[in-house]
Amino acid sequence: MDRWAGKVALVTGSSGGIGWDIAKSLVEHGVQVVGLARRLDKLQELAEILGRNKFYPVQCDVAKEDDILKAFKWAEEKLGDVDILVNNAAIRSESMMIDSSTEDYRKIININLLAPMIFAREFINAIRKRNVSGHILNISSIAGRYPETFRDPIGIYCVTKSGLYTLGVELRHEIMACNLDIRVTTINPGAVKTNMIRDWLPCIDELSKEVPILSGKNIADTVIYALGSPPGAEVFELTIIPQNVVLGSPVPQLTEYQNRNMINK
Ligand SMILES: NC(=O)c1ccc[n+]([C@@H]2O[C@H](COP(=O)([O-])OP(=O)(O)OC[C@H]3O[C@@H](n4cnc5c(N)ncnc54)[C@H](OP(=O)(O)O)[C@@H]3O)[C@@H](O)[C@H]2O)c1
Repeated sequence: MDRWAGKVALVTGSSGGIGWDIAKSLVEHGVQVVGLARRLDKLQELAEILGRNKFYPVQCDVAKEDDILKAFKWAEEKLGDVDILVNNAAIRSESMMIDSSTEDYRKIININLLAPMIFAREFINAIRKRNVSGHILNISSIAGRYPETFRDPIGIYCVTKSGLYTLGVELRHEIMACNLDIRVTTINPGAVKTNMIRDWLPCIDELSKEVPILSGKNIADTVIYALGSPPGAEVFELTIIPQNVVLGSPVPQLTEYQNRNMINK
């Protein structure tokens, strides 16, 4: 990780949950972090904790291309280019695909898949101009990589997360074709105790007393691990799931709850 000390990371969705912990871990490893999200007050709260010369809050709605381009420009002008990109921001589906409108589809695709594509394109082209090293980390999900293990509906969310996996594959091919020094890692977490899963499964806090659920710090550790791999080695994909829990829905009670909740929407 030492090679990244003093470098700049852009972390989307760092106003809470996993992104908050990723930003915190990166700062602890000497990386300057530009944190993006819509809730500026939460980003500012994190800046107070981590230090205003270590964590830089930038309000950005990743559903808007203009916001993405402005955030990049801000980072380049203020800190002199971005070396690490963490595509973390995402939203969940609130209903099954068959009960969702086309507008619902667009909203989720824009945030979960189109935004990471735009961020990756801008990042790779900036690195190409500067001829330096870079690393992209896409936070996908087991819902995208192993959707068949969820026997219950989770809506279009899993489709967008599957797309992130293929995005990583294609970016690698293009990076190789252009002979660039950029590594790409796709991370597939299982259930993590954050607001995303709380909204989905309000019983999660209670259940997590009996069933192991991951923490944001667990995911941040995988980011640090992938970044720390030595030159010449690329951690292409990482799946991290709670110990002693089957892939997919954590426990049968959750599966039933989730199923009922999604179908009743
Ligand atoms: N929790 C899990 O069990 C789990 C499992 C597997 C994968 N994941 C993945 O992990 C990542 C983080 O999820 P989480 O659990 O930490 O969720 P979370 O607690 O709901 O946090 C989501 C983050 O994304 C940001 N965000 C959402 N929409 C945005 C937008 N339009 N523009 C900018 N930022 C936006 C939110 O910030 P604002 O609201 O301030 O904009 C927030 O910081 C996601 O990619 C998720 O799919 C989570």
